[in-house]
Amino acid sequence: MYVAAAAVAAQSSSFAKKGGNPDAARVKNPVAAASGSLAAGKRSYQRLCEKCHGPEGKGDGTAVTGTQPPDLTDAKWDFGSTDGELFAAIHDGTSTDMEGYKERMSDTEIWNVVNYVRSLRSQ
Ligand code: HEC
Repeated sequence: MYVAAAAVAAQSSSFAKKGGNPDAARVKNPVAAASGSLAAGKRSYQRLCEKCHGPEGKGDGTAVTGTQPPDLTDAKWDFGSTDGELFAAIHDGTSTDMEGYKERMSDTEIWNVVNYVRSLRSQ
């Protein structure tokens, strides 16, 4: 049992897990969704994410070549709905269509983007 679990973990360690990730879900967002965080998250989003996820997060960006990006403003999350799981999806990536950003963004920048993506839903 332990061996099987370890093998699964090793296989998928470089990407977030489809269906959610209980370990990531336990990670608390250390950055309050205050206006400064949302503004910084918006800048990162426009620079790095908008080309695929679209200006409002609807998945209608212009640079999409592979899988259609999911709508980030609906209630459906393929990789888990908690802040910690969103962080993992952005930090580690989900697939070759959605690469990880850990080399390009600091943890704080990623949390700012998590806060910003959340705010898209209520707009
Ligand atoms: C090259 C296009 C592309 C870029 C750039 C990109 N994404 Fe994605 N993103 C995708 C695709 C495609 C998926 C769906 C991948 C899958 O199902 O494996 C995805 C999935 C996601 C998910 C998971 C959604 C869910 O339903 O669980 C999140 C969160 C996300 N992206 C956020 C971001 C953020 C934030 C950025 C910028 C830092 C970003 N993405 C940049 C294409 C992109």
